[in-house]
Amino acid sequence: MALPLQYLLLVLLLPALLFLPMAMADSCSDCFVQSRAAYYPNSDQEGTETGACEYGAYGATLNGGDVSAASNLYRNGVGCGACYQVRCTNSDLCSTDGVTIVITDSGSSDNTDFILSQHAFAKMGQTPDAGASLLALGAVGIEYRRVPCSYPQKNITIKIDNSSNFPYYLAFQIWYQQGDKDITAVQLCETVNLTCKLLDRSHGAVWAVVSPPTGPLSVRMLLSGNDDDDDDDETWVVPTNTIPQNWTAGAIYDSGVQVSNS
Ligand SMILES: *[C@@H]1O[C@H](CO)[C@@H](O)[C@H](O)[C@H]1NC(C)=O
Ligand SMILES: *[C@@H]1O[C@H](CO)[C@@H](O)[C@H](O)[C@H]1NC(C)=O
Ligand SMILES: *[C@@H]1O[C@H](CO)[C@@H](O)[C@H](O)[C@H]1NC(C)=O
Ligand SMILES: *[C@@H]1O[C@H](CO)[C@@H](O)[C@H](O)[C@H]1NC(C)=O
Repeated sequence: MALPLQYLLLVLLLPALLFLPMAMADSCSDCFVQSRAAYYPNSDQEGTETGACEYGAYGATLNGGDVSAASNLYRNGVGCGACYQVRCTNSDLCSTDGVTIVITDSGSSDNTDFILSQHAFAKMGQTPDAGASLLALGAVGIEYRRVPCSYPQKNITIKIDNSSNFPYYLAFQIWYQQGDKDITAVQLCETVNLTCKLLDRSHGAVWAVVSPPTGPLSVRMLLSGNDDDDDDDETWVVPTNTIPQNWTAGAIYDSGVQVSNS
C-alpha cells in the first residue's frame, strides 16, 4: 500500500521540525544577555586583591586588571576565573567589542550582574574620553556573553594557599585555566599507590582537604561545559607534573598542562 504523500512528507520533515528549536537554542549559546554593570568606586587601575575568590595578588594583576565581581554568575565560587565579554549599549560612547573580564569577586549593586574594575569599565568606551564619560555615569546598560579565557605562554598552575599547614591541611587554587569550562570537581591523587581523594570547594576558588594523601600529588580537574543539557561535555584533565611531596604554603607549582581555549 502506498503511503499518502502528506504522511510521507510529515515523516521526513518531523525530525527536522523537532530539532529546529534545539539547533536554534544551541546557536544562541553565543548570544548576548542584557544586563547592567557598575564599577568598584575606590578601585585604582588594577583589579582587587581582596575579592571573594581569594586570588590575592593574582587577582589584582590578572588579565591586565580587567576583572569583575559577579552576582548570580559567581555561582558560589564555581564562576571564579570565568571570562565574559561585556560591552555597554550606549552607541555614542561604547565600542562594539567592549572588554573581556575575569570573575574574581562576588557582589552586586543597583541590579547589576557585574561590578567591573575601573580599568575594565573605562575600556568599554570607544576612546579614553568616552571611557571617562562612562565612569561619570556610574552604572550603565550592558550586554554580556561567556567567552574562552586565554593565557598564552601559561600552563594551568597550582597555587598552594597560605592557609595550608604541611602535612595536615592542604588548600590550593587553580590559576590560568584557559577555555570556557568550569572546574566542577577536583581529585587529589597520590601517585605511588594511586589512591585519590575527592575534594570540596572550600570557598571562592579555593579547594581544600584535611589529612591530604602523602607523597607526590596529582591534581585532577573535572572541566564541565556550561551547556546544561549536554552530559557528554565533561573531561578529566590529568596534569603532567605533580605537587612535590614536601609542598609548602604559598608555593606555586606548574601543572605542565593547559587546555585549548577554543
Ligand atoms: C601569602 O603569603 C605571602 C608571603 O608570606 C604574602 O606575600 C601574600 O600576600 C600572602 N597572600 C595572601 C592572600 O594572604
Ligand atoms: C602505598 O601503600 C603501601 C602499602 O599499603 C604503604 O606502605 C605506603 O605508605 C603507601 N604509599 C603512599 C605514598 O601512600
Ligand atoms: C623538596 O624536596 C626536593 C627534593 O625532593 C628538594 O630539592 C627541595 O629543596 C625540597 N623543598 C623544600 C621546601 O624542602
Ligand atoms: C608547560 O608545561 C610543559 C610541560 O608539559 C613545559 O614544557 C612548558 O615549558 C610549560 N610552559 C610554561 C610556560 O611554563
